[in-house]
Amino acid sequence: MVTLIKILVGIIATLVIITVDSYNSNGATNESIAQHSSIALDKSCKEKAYKILESKCNICHRKRNRRRVFTKENMDKWANDIYKQVFIKKRMPRGKNVKLSPDEYQDLLTWITTTKNSQNGNQL
Ligand code: HEC
Repeated sequence: MVTLIKILVGIIATLVIITVDSYNSNGATNESIAQHSSIALDKSCKEKAYKILESKCNICHRKRNRRRVFTKENMDKWANDIYKQVFIKKRMPRGKNVKLSPDEYQDLLTWITTTKNSQNGNQL
């Protein structure tokens, strides 16, 4: 009896998956919904990243590296440099006084990943 129920549940689950699959593959409408939501996501994660750049990086760059003061206009272009300095070489944020929290690292990385993907389709 239990086995029979398991088989039935299995069949129903498969049917549901098949229906959802065919629904998802039916073209343009779903794609544009996906695009819209990814734009919204990009925006809010960019917003978070900008706040971090402004509060943890610009405070110093304004005084000591004036050519690299981050704005919402230039940050996308510099995403790669930021990735290198913060995650690979770990030179930034500089000094002992400014530290990023684990959440801030995560938010920066999320923004960098979505930015790089939407620019040229390259993975990190
Ligand atoms: C306490 C000061 C200070 C803080 C905080 C700081 N920076 Fe910098 N940053 C500098 C200075 C000075 C330079 C230029 C000299 C150098 O590259 O070491 C620089 C250079 C850079 C460069 C260019 C390096 C290159 O050679 O291409 C990037 C990118 C950068 N910083 C990103 C960041 C990011 C992102 C943050 C925040 C997470 C940050 N910095 C925080 C002082 C700081």
